[in-house]
This record gives sequence, structure tokens and C-alpha cells, in this order.
Amino acid sequence: MSKIVIDEKMKRTLIEKAIEVLPNSFAPYSKYNVAAAALFDSGNIYTGVNVESASLGATICAERNAIFHAVAEGDRKLLAIAVVGGRDGDIDDVYCAPCGICRQVMRDFADKDEMLVISAKSPDDYIEHTLEEMLPMSFGPEAL
Ligand code: THU
Repeated sequence: MSKIVIDEKMKRTLIEKAIEVLPNSFAPYSKYNVAAAALFDSGNIYTGVNVESASLGATICAERNAIFHAVAEGDRKLLAIAVVGGRDGDIDDVYCAPCGICRQVMRDFADKDEMLVISAKSPDDYIEHTLEEMLPMSFGPEAL
């Protein structure tokens, strides 16, 4: 398997792919639209959006939607994820941060010191953190 490089071009690609699917976000209740694009070590990129349910607890976040799709396709090692989102889809208001549950699910499929979480307002305006920075002292698969 070829080594995947997460350079500026790849980060831009991930952000662009997330922005591309943002209109598919289904968030009639919160009106907070989120989209994600997740890069796996196969080189495959999976997108996801938040999908809300009338039974609010059944809602799934964009990040987990992307990761679970990857797992269904046979990918297991998450290298990076780009996240965009905001009220009424206004992504330039905020660097959308993954919720705690999504951070935990990332932990299940990533190297916490290597994996990058990219929160973007646009392809030119983003911040990035390792998963370890976003979820310190975490509980992971190696504990079980
Ligand atoms: N949401 C995500 O999709 N990802 C996050 O990490 C933050 C929250 C969604 C869930 C819900 O549909 C809406 O944003 C408001 O919480």
C-alpha cells in the first residue's frame, strides 16, 4: 500500500469534498449543517453529513457517518478528517469542532498521535489538531 501524504493539496481536497456534500446535510431540527470528508490509508476518501431524526437521539453526526461508511467498505485506518459546518450551513462563522462521541469513534480507527482533524471555514482557512490534542488521556482499543 502506497504511503499517503497529507500535504496542503490533500487537506484542500478533503475540505473541498466536505463542502461539496454539505448541501446534503439533513438537519431540519437543529438547522446546524455539518459535513465531513475522511481519508483512510487505502487512499479512499469518504464523505458524510449529519442526518437528524425526529427522535433526536437517533441523529448521526457527519464525522461518524463518514467513518462508518468507510468501515462498511472495508477501510479501517483513518488518517485525517476535514469538518465543515455551521448554523444554516454558514461554514465561515466557525471552525466546526467534532463532538466528543465522534472524537471517540475516530480513536477507534486512528493513530491518535498522527491522525489530523481539520476544521475549516474554507479551503484556504482552516485549523488542524492531532487527535491526541483533541482527545487527551483517551480510552482506546488497546485497553481491551
Ligand atoms: N453535529 C455533527 O454532525 N458533528 C459534530 O461534531 C457536531 C454536531 C451535528 C449533530 C446535529 O445534527 C447538529 O450538528 C447539532 O448538534
